[in-house]
Amino acid sequence: MTRRILVTSALPYANGPIHIGHLVEYIQTDIWVRFQKLRGNRCIYVCADDTHGTAIMIRARKEGRSEEALIAAMSESHQRDFDGFGIQFDNYGSTHSDENRTICAKIWQSLRDKDLIAERPVEQLYDPEAETFLADRFVRGTCPKCGRTDQPGDNCVCGHTYSPTDLIDPKSTLSGATPILRESTHLFVELEKLHGFLADWIDTSDALQSETANYLKGHFLANELRDWDISRPGPYFGFEIPDSPGNFWYVWFDAPIGYIASTQQWCDSNGEKLEDWWNSDSCEIHHFIGKDITYFHTLFWPGMLESAGFRLPTKVRIHGFLTVAGEKMSKSTGTLVSAETYLKYSNPSYLRYFYATKLTPRVEDLDLGIDEFTEKVNSDLVGKVVNLASRVGKFASTTGLSKQYPDDGGLFAAAAKAGDEIAAAYEACDFSRAMRRIMELADAANPFVEHAKPWEMKKDAERQGELQDVCTVALNLFRQLAIYIAPVLPDLAKQCGDLLGSPITSWDQSKTPLVGIPVAKFQRMMDRVQSKDLKKMIDESKELAAADAAQDNASPTNDAAFNDSDQPLKDEPIADEISIDEFAKVDLRVARVVSAEHVPEANKLLKLTLSLGGDERRQVFAGIKAAYDPEKLVGRLVVMAANLKPRKMRFGLSEGMVTAAGPGGEEVFILGVDEGAQPGQRVH
Ligand code: MSP
Ligand code: ZN
Repeated sequence: MTRRILVTSALPYANGPIHIGHLVEYIQTDIWVRFQKLRGNRCIYVCADDTHGTAIMIRARKEGRSEEALIAAMSESHQRDFDGFGIQFDNYGSTHSDENRTICAKIWQSLRDKDLIAERPVEQLYDPEAETFLADRFVRGTCPKCGRTDQPGDNCVCGHTYSPTDLIDPKSTLSGATPILRESTHLFVELEKLHGFLADWIDTSDALQSETANYLKGHFLANELRDWDISRPGPYFGFEIPDSPGNFWYVWFDAPIGYIASTQQWCDSNGEKLEDWWNSDSCEIHHFIGKDITYFHTLFWPGMLESAGFRLPTKVRIHGFLTVAGEKMSKSTGTLVSAETYLKYSNPSYLRYFYATKLTPRVEDLDLGIDEFTEKVNSDLVGKVVNLASRVGKFASTTGLSKQYPDDGGLFAAAAKAGDEIAAAYEACDFSRAMRRIMELADAANPFVEHAKPWEMKKDAERQGELQDVCTVALNLFRQLAIYIAPVLPDLAKQCGDLLGSPITSWDQSKTPLVGIPVAKFQRMMDRVQSKDLKKMIDESKELAAADAAQDNASPTNDAAFNDSDQPLKDEPIADEISIDEFAKVDLRVARVVSAEHVPEANKLLKLTLSLGGDERRQVFAGIKAAYDPEKLVGRLVVMAANLKPRKMRFGLSEGMVTAAGPGGEEVFILGVDEGAQPGQRVH
């Protein structure tokens, strides 16, 4: 049965460009959507720009143009970036649209009718020069705890958290003026009234990953849910609340409603009815979001939908954050690469594939390491997948494909059978597993061509029939790979379709080989990654950041253009508490480094041999290459986790872990114990 599936990605803020961190999400969603379409399901992918809030208002003022002009320009640039990465929306809207205003009003009325809105005064800092209330991040001052100056409005580097009114000598970052306290009326959603419903939904709906459900239960549902401040006094760029003049809906109220508004636009231009998607049990709704906006999508949003009589999401699929070379992306190191800069120097297919190999159904952060990126693209895509076609491509254009599919020792049949398993992995958003399975198929296919040596057949007039058979097998095996990887690499799928004169349109095409057809002239499909291009990309990102900073020295943080969240609530799930018994399960032991050497193929690892006393030796790969000279480690005592399940790495087995502290890179410090401790002794 064909399913009807509505899919969304989070709506990107209109006050900054798309960067490679955002792209994790849009690429992930696009892959899933393309997969559903390839399977023959009816799948619609909608998104929009998130346009409201203080940040946009301030920026428009600073640039001397209207908010409308600013968001129109941003929308165009976002859509150009998405298009450059092959991200295909069925509709791309804006939260600043008539459709959104209408649906917001409708949902608002339902909340009023259900008596979920409360009103009370709130004291907030106000900038008398800029004439606007100040979100926490627009205030800086001296920490009331430690006295450090120039700290942000909500927390200090010393770890103390406070509200901006607690700051000593607060200053507005907009004008430099001293803010004053001003009272205004705010409207609140009384979320606690929905506590029972939310607890029930989280328990029974299967919409959330288990770690998310546990996080919500532990952090929010265990207590009374706090009222949600849903309004902002003007001036504010947003929609004025119809029954509360002078007050505007807070950006996070109308942003998710933008999902519905964008669907409405799609319905209007496709002769569809909104109810069939947002009020129907016969379709599915999947939201893809990052972990920082979990709270909004798993508490407020279902609460609003339920109260207003809309259906609830089938799944909220939450991904982790991108780090680059093990660290948070940053402008100063050039790792906060914009989509535009990436496209100037590299191929979007590379990034799509790389992210696919990293994405799992879990809420885990994923790391982009330049060496790993290069290695994966060059060895998997170019070396295995494309190689299969390029080794026979130029012969095949003269031979065409055999009339009958030749004996290939069962390769085609085995790959056809693997289709179900790969599809299940895609469906579950386990793209990492899907990519592994596809590469296993490529590993099985390549030796067939190597052994057959078509380049020798080519020279022998009597072996042209054999040559045709080898081309037929190799290109059909290549086509199976191209079909399975089509959601990730639509361009490659297109090239395969062009080569064989048969476009890839459905997953089931992987079950039947093509025979008796001509083959087009072979065109180069994909080049290897050049590390010099990646270096240029990083360098340019650094330069752009420096130019930005010089131009925009009023901006409070150097990454300001990239993070708006005119609100303190973006939450990051933190590690769960563990019991002392769980902690005691870690077998920490003193160990002596017997040898340490570089692993030439790995840019971060050292290979250590550790002695646990007597004859007991462990091999451990530790990511400390940037911090330590191997020679200097030999002879030292370290603390190791000795009962970790051994892990097979590309370079060998890693049988434990060495404990260390620090942010990473050169700043890693191995935890040691004094001489006198004996290798093998338990650490208490
Ligand atoms: N405007 C809100 C979403 C409103 S949805 C009704 C927002 N915008 S955002 O531009 O900051 O982020 C858009 C999406 O990109 C979010 O899901 C966010 O989690 C994701 N990412 C932003 N930076 C990211 C990384 N570094 N890594 C992975 N995803 C990241 O939040
Ligand atoms: Zn402090």
